[in-house]
Amino acid sequence: MKISKICCIGAGYVGGPTMAVIAQKCPHIQVTVVDLNEARIAAWNDSDLSKLPVYEPGLADVVAEARGRNLFFSTEVDKAIDEAEMIFISVNTPTKTYGIGKGMAADLKYIELCARQIARVARDNKIVVEKSTLPVRTASAIKSILDHTGNGVQFQILSNPEFLAEGTAIDDLFAPDRVLIGGEDSAEGQKAVNALADVYANWVPKDKILTTNVWSSELSKLTANAFLAQRVSSINSISELCEKTGANVNEVGKAIGLDSRIGPKFLKASVGFGGSCFQKDILNLVYIAKSYGLNEVADYWEQVIIMNDHQKRRFAKNIITTLYNTVSGKKITFLGWAFKKDTNDTRESAAIYVADYLLNEQANIAVFDPKVEEQQILTDLDYLDTRSSEENKSGVDVTADPYQACKDSHAVAVLTEWDEFKTYDWQKIYDNMLKPAFVFDGRNILNKEELQKIGFIYKAIGS
Ligand code: NAD
Ligand code: UGA
Repeated sequence: MKISKICCIGAGYVGGPTMAVIAQKCPHIQVTVVDLNEARIAAWNDSDLSKLPVYEPGLADVVAEARGRNLFFSTEVDKAIDEAEMIFISVNTPTKTYGIGKGMAADLKYIELCARQIARVARDNKIVVEKSTLPVRTASAIKSILDHTGNGVQFQILSNPEFLAEGTAIDDLFAPDRVLIGGEDSAEGQKAVNALADVYANWVPKDKILTTNVWSSELSKLTANAFLAQRVSSINSISELCEKTGANVNEVGKAIGLDSRIGPKFLKASVGFGGSCFQKDILNLVYIAKSYGLNEVADYWEQVIIMNDHQKRRFAKNIITTLYNTVSGKKITFLGWAFKKDTNDTRESAAIYVADYLLNEQANIAVFDPKVEEQQILTDLDYLDTRSSEENKSGVDVTADPYQACKDSHAVAVLTEWDEFKTYDWQKIYDNMLKPAFVFDGRNILNKEELQKIGFIYKAIGS
């Protein structure tokens, strides 16, 4: 079976870039990305490519090449479902904020709405692809909805989780470590698996396309994120021990990473991991384990989150104790708000939590981030519901110029590892700060010797 028309429901950080790359690499396939969010679709269609709703290096070029040729962004969800042979579901699956499983389980209401919409609209056989990250066995719920339409339409459900990381999404999509496709064992199931594998085979080497059963595929996604986050929490736990013992976490990370069984990646100590998925997916894993009565399994993974929360709190506490046990009325400058460099995404960013702790201590926070707007920063703080919007607004000052942001500050805190922070004129920053001038490097990216020579009191993570 050859696919000629694809629809993707959800034009977010995954749906947008993923479909743009499929369209670019497969000019013979028409790809339509649909979303209920009209503003988001309008931004994807904006002729000014700097206005795309997702900032990713290289994305604008891919969109420029394919958009209008075989890549389309639209709000006409029904039409796109009706026309496509293959439908990707790439909607958000946030942590539930209500009812049973509140704060732990994945909220699958958007997934179910998609399934019901596909069931209502489809008039011929479709392959439905889970692109969103989902609890293991979700495909059976989707199948149950799709199989009860009574109109004779046949559906195959595949799991095809996405492993791209933000900030490197385009490189990751161009050259994935692997593409994972889970499908039913039946002849029809395998036909669907092959149809999707053929799409990827347009640019991904065949030996990197891995096929499994549906449940392994669904669970592998949660497991991959849990393992990655666990590495960050592991090295962050060691960073605290380094600070007590005179060891240096950068040196420890390098020393253990040279062991080929451990490997060098994901061993950077930090203020704590953020992003829309690590926490959500681990909480989901913990919830699933508990729901099967596997309490030891649940506790084991929950510790990754506990350590991450501790690391964020510890960073904020260190600022307070170092500034003579009070930050009340003091200006603290945040360099960076995004959860990592090269993205405008702030979801679950450590910066939000550190700011929240410091605002509780009545600090005045100035923020500079090269890609994050003021409105987003205030929305992130309001979402925590710790204090009123007015109070957040009066405690936080977002500035478009980093030097202005650092002027008259007591301390600068690096929350995101943006490359440009390394090349700032730190002498100029120092000259305009209150003394003693402190730097808290939550990403270990600045040059300690250079800053100390200028006169800064420099505090890194894990040394
Ligand atoms: P997102 O919030 O950026 O985008 C989801 C989009 O789906 C939104 O624009 C929303 O309006 C739309 N949507 C929701 N319900 C809809 C409906 N019924 N019809 C049409 N549109 C609808 O989310 P995201 O970051 O792209 O993540 C999507 C999924 O991919 C999640 O399950 C996430 O865990 C997973 N994932 C994310 C990343 C990442 O880097 N962000 C990486 C891998 C996997
Ligand atoms: C992560 C995974 O890397 C992707 O494979 C996955 O597809 C994605 O989650 C998802 O499912 O959403 P992402 O969150 O975009 O990608 O970015 P990462 O590079 O994994 O970074 C996550 C967080 O960990 C960031 O806050 C980053 O700064 C932090 N981190 C990462 C560290 O603190 N230290 C490290 O060594 C690595």
